[in-house]
Amino acid sequence: MGCFSCILFRRKDVSKIEVDGGARSGSGKRRGSCEEDAIEKRRASKSGKGKGSNSAKSAARSFTFRDLATATRNFKEVNLIGEGGFGRVYKGRLETGEVVAIKQLNHDGLQGFQEFIVEVLMLSLLHHPNLVTLHGYCTDGDQRLLVYEYMPMGSLEDHLFDLDPGQAPLDWNTRMKIAVGSAKGLEYLHCKANPPVIYRDLKSANILLDNDFNPKLSDFGLAKLGPVGDNTHVSTRVMGTYGYCAPEYAMSGKLTLKSDIYSFGVVLMELITGRKAIDTTRKQGDQNLVVWSRPFLRDRRKFVQLADPLLEGQFPIRCLHHAIAITAMCLQDQPTFRPLIGDIVVALEYLATQSSGTEPRKQVPDIL
Ligand SMILES: Nc1ncnc2c1ncn2[C@@H]1O[C@H](COP(=O)(O)OP(=O)(O)OP(=O)(O)O)[C@@H](O)[C@H]1O
Ligand SMILES: [Mg+2]
Repeated sequence: MGCFSCILFRRKDVSKIEVDGGARSGSGKRRGSCEEDAIEKRRASKSGKGKGSNSAKSAARSFTFRDLATATRNFKEVNLIGEGGFGRVYKGRLETGEVVAIKQLNHDGLQGFQEFIVEVLMLSLLHHPNLVTLHGYCTDGDQRLLVYEYMPMGSLEDHLFDLDPGQAPLDWNTRMKIAVGSAKGLEYLHCKANPPVIYRDLKSANILLDNDFNPKLSDFGLAKLGPVGDNTHVSTRVMGTYGYCAPEYAMSGKLTLKSDIYSFGVVLMELITGRKAIDTTRKQGDQNLVVWSRPFLRDRRKFVQLADPLLEGQFPIRCLHHAIAITAMCLQDQPTFRPLIGDIVVALEYLATQSSGTEPRKQVPDIL
């Protein structure tokens, strides 16, 4: 399980394993003006044909580089709000007055061009309260930028780890609310999108939060359409983030909806423990969260030791036990033993209502 050496530490890419050519061979070659054409054609062919949940809500629009330079005051350092593998993220204000987050692709690798197209296509077709909204994109010359709704509380990662002095840790109810919303976003991708979408990059850095800590999944550049017909999996190059990748996917490149469930289990474990999926500042053996948690998961009497010390014991113990039980199921080595996202949503919703003391909407589901 600890053997993920084929995947780089922080983000995306990139295994040296290529199982069967993969959809990414030749990636980066289709850049230039045909990109925008491809996006437009695909959107046009889909518009009006959506099957309910997939139908376009508000189409992503094309911005000029000038629009976005104006919005960010020439990409001023003071407007820089983050940076990831794709590039830098700036806060900006559009002419309409709308505040947005603008992600600028860095030009270090060709991989990003492929991700750019996938991101625009996916987010143009998929709309759900727990998925981030894409306002538009820019393909001026060599520039590739994405314009998203601005999420004022940043990412879940920002609220779980390395807190600033004086920053309040997330309380238990908020953690459950974030778990439920993230699960609903994933349920939409797995069960309501047609064909299903495998997200492939579920991690706390990609769960963005609004002012009320409602979570939204972001970064769809790695997403894949799921298997159709009798196929049980999609074969692909191993991409993802070290610490979140399902073991069978890391080893064989066989991607299924259950790969996302494993990653979701890692995020749940982060929410419960306040520990990072991978923390290289910890001693050997404790660096990988899943490996570290295994002995605790084997003995229910040790469950309470998994709770984030920053919670200071402020959680209903039964809910903690159930949350850990759900997490353990998501982290099963055998993908078939992992639950379906629909069942996880029901179970977490029940826990969230229990935690906040309101009436449960549903009975305790079987998977508990
Ligand atoms: N829509 C947004 N609203 C507000 N902040 C955002 C938004 N999108 C990204 N950010 C901020 O920018 C940071 C970098 O995001 P980005 O998605 O580029 O990288 P990442 O997810 O941290 O890492 P990776 O490249 O591995 O996915 C996020 O952690 C978040 O703080
Ligand atoms: Mg991200």
